[in-house]
Amino acid sequence: MRHIEKVADMAAAARRLASEGKSVGFVPTMGYLHDGHLALAGEARKENDVVVMSIFVNPAQFGPGEDFDSYPRDLERDAALAEKAGVDILFHPSPEEMYPEDSDIRILPGRQADVLCGASRPGHFDGVLKVLTKLFHITRPERAYFGQKDAQQLAIIETFVRNYNFQLEIRRVPTVREEDGLAKSSRNVRLSHEERQEAPAIYAALKDGARVLRESGDPELVLGMVRNTLGRIPAAETDYAEILEYPSLRPLNPESREAIIAAAVRFSGARLIDNVLVTMEGKTS
Ligand code: PAJ
Repeated sequence: MRHIEKVADMAAAARRLASEGKSVGFVPTMGYLHDGHLALAGEARKENDVVVMSIFVNPAQFGPGEDFDSYPRDLERDAALAEKAGVDILFHPSPEEMYPEDSDIRILPGRQADVLCGASRPGHFDGVLKVLTKLFHITRPERAYFGQKDAQQLAIIETFVRNYNFQLEIRRVPTVREEDGLAKSSRNVRLSHEERQEAPAIYAALKDGARVLRESGDPELVLGMVRNTLGRIPAAETDYAEILEYPSLRPLNPESREAIIAAAVRFSGARLIDNVLVTMEGKTS
């Protein structure tokens, strides 16, 4: 596995691969890799000649007072895991390398960023689109891989790539979970022992919600139930729990084909997000 830290070197490698007719599968991450990230790499390995993974804790997508400084980092461990997962090139630039000048050009997501995490983390998705625009240009992927775990991010990226003619395909990869249902996340290491015991209740609430939504088609009933269950997790404070149409992230309506039930929950050391998708087939009333 090749390590690259410089943008110019990564761009040159990507140009060379393109001239050789080799397809690049790209897996953008912020590191502290777990099985969720590795599942993306596994999918990329199956479909491309070369797998490029980036590890970059992107300052542009963290707000003031968020966990940029304390975000877990361990490049050595990540490199060993990435290599085992079949990554060919690990691109890990420094913030100075990625952002050598304080650009005043802004890339703004649309309506899809007004809800869920976009509402509680203003500017977060601006930062995600900013870094991905750069990373897509630098790595020139044919396909890029994203987890359903961050469903809003995925939906916004799909719209962005489609609307702005990025010449790549976005691939969706299902959420990888711990045995007790907790979605794998780099931030799970920030949970106390007690919080870790309580955290699987998030997915349990969402899964119950999905079942009741399928049975009843009544989003208000489901929302009440999910909020109530989340409210009873002792160490957690609910940031949001919502049901929307997916991937538009508009209000659910009788024509909606797919719904997302999404929640964000704050523990003392970490804010966790999770979601489930529900096929509606004319279920809402
Ligand atoms: P990060 O949180 O490191 O996640 C990188 C990718 O891994 C994202 O596509 C995310 O959805 C996926 N992922 C995380 N946990 C997962 C899980 N349990 N199952 C499946 N996939 C999972 O998301 C980001 O970084 C950043 O915003 C980034 C896209 C890299 C831009 O900076």
